[in-house]
Amino acid sequence: MNILLLGSGGREHAMAAKIAESKLCEHLFIAPGNAGTTACGTNVNLKVEDFNGIGKFVVDNNIQMVVVGPEVPLVAGIADYFINNPRLKEVAVIGPSAQGALLEGSKDFAKQFMKRHNIPTAEYKTFTSDTIPLGVAYLSTLKPPYVLKADGLAAGKGVLILDSFDQACAELDEMLNGAKFGNASKSVVIEQYLSGVELSVFVLTDGKHYKILPTAKDYKRIGEGDTGLNTGGMGSISPVPFADKAFMHKVEHDIVMPTIKGLQKEGIPYKGFIFIGLMAVADSEGILNPYVIEYNVRMGDPETESVFPRIKSDIVQLFDATWRGELNMESLDIDERSAACVMLVADGYPGSYRKGDAITGLDAIEGSLLFHAGTRRKDDGTLVTNGGRVLCVTTLSSSLPNAILKSLQAADNIKWRGRYFRHDIGQDLLKMVIGQ
Ligand code: AMP
Ligand code: GLY
Repeated sequence: MNILLLGSGGREHAMAAKIAESKLCEHLFIAPGNAGTTACGTNVNLKVEDFNGIGKFVVDNNIQMVVVGPEVPLVAGIADYFINNPRLKEVAVIGPSAQGALLEGSKDFAKQFMKRHNIPTAEYKTFTSDTIPLGVAYLSTLKPPYVLKADGLAAGKGVLILDSFDQACAELDEMLNGAKFGNASKSVVIEQYLSGVELSVFVLTDGKHYKILPTAKDYKRIGEGDTGLNTGGMGSISPVPFADKAFMHKVEHDIVMPTIKGLQKEGIPYKGFIFIGLMAVADSEGILNPYVIEYNVRMGDPETESVFPRIKSDIVQLFDATWRGELNMESLDIDERSAACVMLVADGYPGSYRKGDAITGLDAIEGSLLFHAGTRRKDDGTLVTNGGRVLCVTTLSSSLPNAILKSLQAADNIKWRGRYFRHDIGQDLLKMVIGQ
């Protein structure tokens, strides 16, 4: 079949590579894609929010499946746009309805959903500009640090974690009265701080059945030792060594199953990925229990770059079964090896950064996978930087330390003016495993 993948990041390059491997894929188009995705299919110059343009391209090119990478078109209702259009309704869309996408599009909706279905998460309350004094009173019942979340999509920037009560009150006012995150902070969720280790669990569901994909951990801060500004993600590891059978049993029974059942009970159509951001919190006996920090309605970036290379099954077959509601008929084979992904970023990122620097050293990469994110090929064929996160290297190995080392060595060989990467991706997990 002909397939259209929407998005342009490292996540989409990793997805494109897996889709292109499928025996069911005749031709893959990526809109808009990047300089790397051209190795997997044809890039199409369409914006992911341009539903009319996408719909026309799908009809004109006899596309049978659309795989949605980022959240914005999902929250804006791309799945519903297809279902409600007689010429598009037969097209398989891998991504939830707008109603399902509220799990990511509204923190308040997600928290209410978790409460309704007894899914473990931090205690919380939601406030608007009319209820600021109640918000301040609620903050005074909590211990620092204080967690404030803009209700709506804020490009990953809408969560504030603050040490002082006064600062938390000031930010609450800034979010609600000062529109700090525009419309996204018209409502603010204040929640209890959870102390623990974060990890991500990914689920592919047809709304009834599900497959749990490999776990991953991403590294969000720009600086080594998890310091400095938040980024889109500086690397990832899959699987997460501490997420053992007992822990994953709790994740499946206490979180994944009630989430899918909850969607079903509430009549919310959902065919796509659920990315569950978890905090593993140790109880008084040191046993780790999972709590949901957030839902996303797509795969993570850069988690996909370490999760997707580990999927051995035909991903298009899984997507097709997802669309038909027959995911239970499929098996999911996973590569037992560990994957380590190191992201290389532009000088200055996540602040303002330069674009257009020539990239060298890619030809020397051997035994590692390379996924492009912010890259562009100039007319003269030169590959140049074109974003903050530029490209990433993933290595698979039966030894996690070896996977990390190989990715770092490969990253070291890739050069452009001011390129930066973190050298400590996965080191925290290695320390946990050897019990330090
Ligand atoms: P989110 O955008 O919801 O992923 O939140 C951004 C980051 O804030 C998360 O990855 C966590 O590191 C942190 N965070 C969110 N909620 C909490 C919480 N309740 N307790 C501790 N950390 C949190
Ligand atoms: N890596 C986190 C995200 O994709 O939201």
